[in-house]
Amino acid sequence: MDDISIKHQPDETSGAALINSPALANTRKVYVKTYGCQMNVYDSQRMADSLAAEGYSPTDTADDADLVLINTCHIREKASEKLYSALGRLRKMKDARAKEGRELTVGVAGCVAQAEGDEITRRAPVVDLVVGPQTYHRLPQALARVAKGERVVETEYAIEDKFEHLPSPGKEQTRSRGVTAFLTVQEGCDKFCTFCVVPYTRGSEVSRPVAQILKEAEKLADAGVRELTLLGQNVNAWHGEGPDGREWGLGELLYRLAEIPGIARLRYITSHPRDMDDALINAHRDLDMLMPYLHLPVQAGSDRILKAMNRKHTGDDYLRLIERIRNARSDIALSGDFIVGFPGETDEDFEATLQLVRDVTYAAAYSFKYSPRPGTPGADLPDHIDEAVKDERLQRLQALLSEQQYAFQRSLVNKSFDVLIEKAGRVPGQMVGRSPWLQPVIIDVHGGRIGDIINVRIIDTGTNSLIGVREMV
Ligand code: SAH
Ligand code: SF4
Ligand code: F3S
Repeated sequence: MDDISIKHQPDETSGAALINSPALANTRKVYVKTYGCQMNVYDSQRMADSLAAEGYSPTDTADDADLVLINTCHIREKASEKLYSALGRLRKMKDARAKEGRELTVGVAGCVAQAEGDEITRRAPVVDLVVGPQTYHRLPQALARVAKGERVVETEYAIEDKFEHLPSPGKEQTRSRGVTAFLTVQEGCDKFCTFCVVPYTRGSEVSRPVAQILKEAEKLADAGVRELTLLGQNVNAWHGEGPDGREWGLGELLYRLAEIPGIARLRYITSHPRDMDDALINAHRDLDMLMPYLHLPVQAGSDRILKAMNRKHTGDDYLRLIERIRNARSDIALSGDFIVGFPGETDEDFEATLQLVRDVTYAAAYSFKYSPRPGTPGADLPDHIDEAVKDERLQRLQALLSEQQYAFQRSLVNKSFDVLIEKAGRVPGQMVGRSPWLQPVIIDVHGGRIGDIINVRIIDTGTNSLIGVREMV
């Protein structure tokens, strides 16, 4: 493990995207395996929606699937490697099926698909289809070509807007996914941090238009969604023309989304420190339903390293920004991302990261060893850091971050706050909900219904979860 793993983080551990639509039983089956960030989780759902329209019903195992789609992540070397080990297993499965006269179609989607394209079909003959993130709306046509015996690689950046052409989520599908939902509002990145592949795998920054976002949000609310998380690689760089004809930023969009009946909670992820404008900070001050939890990656504490990373801000800029945000919303908790062992990072630079973490105090954080990515400027820098040094730094950083995370968990004991009930617990009478800070809350609550927001008092903490009782006021 090179990260502290918590739900809702950009990592490569998220599970399969599933939909359940009983009406489509006994049709062809698709298994979608999702790696990577929330954007991939969202994309997998949208791909499943578009395949449902083609008669594919979802399954949660490759064994009974006719089509396996692997939605991949390219962010770190380890993340990419997962693709090839999964393909090795699928090759065996495909060979075994061939003997029984049964077919298996294998598709690769996501960021490795975009970055490696043809290379994947060359290296892994088991693959029938490669689709990059901007061409998912062409999936049905691509599958039709595969059925005719072609091997298809679709990785151009499509000129047409894929969101216009992807079917929007159906009510039944949304219902089966629960009371929380992701909604991509922005995709791609123009920031070119020198360590990062995202600008190459997701293309340049594109914001979805306001009307499209509102329509999708209203549909989700109508299907019972209570908590909406807006997604973007640089979500706070989202901008668009509002119905009032003015240029809107994410702040304005949040005020508008807050008006949708049924939606009770809003979140957004992931933000860049340089795009936290006043309107967005004010939204945190004004909107109770904007959850007091902000993921604001800083990556490093040393100005020299921040410059080499092309983050275009200093450690001090970040601290001052946090102060402004905390002034606007005093109960806000922060999470962040960190990279240790960027080329040229000295002990002193690393100490600056530890100091920044002490200055900020995070409720949660994700930390990674620098992984050189082909084609990024960072990979060509001199003075790469030894793995052993990276390991040691990561351990020290994670020890500090875990301490802060634990302290945050403990600080919630005896506090009362609203919890959104998401599902039934393992024990009868128990429900599992979500705190404003994303921790799962296990509640002994008789009569609570999924989708309810109830006031809960925390009586204890688990490793990553909280244990609470319904507050009777
Ligand atoms: N858009 C977000 C981050 C997207 S990638 C932002 O600007 O912060 C998610 C996280 O993966 C990053 O914040 C970074 O901490 C980590 N990451 C990205 N590239 C990496 C690399 N080459 N090696 C190690 N970690 C990396
Ligand atoms: Fe990657 Fe930087 Fe863009 Fe985030 S802002 S996606 S880290 S290039
Ligand atoms: Fe990975 Fe692509 Fe997301 S590289 S983190 S799946 S944008």
